[in-house]
Amino acid sequence: MEERKDGKQHIFLIGFMGSGKSTVGELLAERLSLPFIDSDREIEKSEGKSIDEIFSREGEKAFRDMELNFLVELKGLKPSVVSLGGGLPAINGALELMHQFGLVIYLNTSLLTLIQRLKNEKDLRPLLKDLSDAEFHPFVEDLLSQRVHFYKQAKLIMPNERNSPIELVDKLTKELNKLNY
Ligand code: S3P
Repeated sequence: MEERKDGKQHIFLIGFMGSGKSTVGELLAERLSLPFIDSDREIEKSEGKSIDEIFSREGEKAFRDMELNFLVELKGLKPSVVSLGGGLPAINGALELMHQFGLVIYLNTSLLTLIQRLKNEKDLRPLLKDLSDAEFHPFVEDLLSQRVHFYKQAKLIMPNERNSPIELVDKLTKELNKLNY
């Protein structure tokens, strides 16, 4: 399989729901002239169902298995920028796979910013949509605290807070140059 200068095949963007992975991923791919792949959209395509339908009909465990399979299958693809679902890095063995054939970047967004962004998008996300207003904040806080140590195993940690997506892509391309990517 084709590899880039640093020996890594893909660029993986990881981070919590609402951290901007898809928006930034698409722009970064365009900047680097690479294909862009989004794990949720690919799983929806191959299953012929929305993420919401997969969660409600088959359950979260089945979805996590699909995410891991998606990751394994990326090994055979040409170098791409890949945005990964927020829960993927917490699946057993997933981070090892990402590090094996990709450069892993964490989009680090604070709890308060995530809460702000996600509260208007709750209905789009199966893990959040049934939470009451009172449950929402503690749920996000707890899930983020369970996941942050996985996210922090990324090779690059990029704050994504007050900057625009374009500014972040500018910073990211500079960091990638430093890493000889
Ligand atoms: C999930 C994040 C979602 C999607 C699913 C579960 C999670 O992706 O995979 O709803 O467990 O954090 P985004 O991070 O792209 O929103």
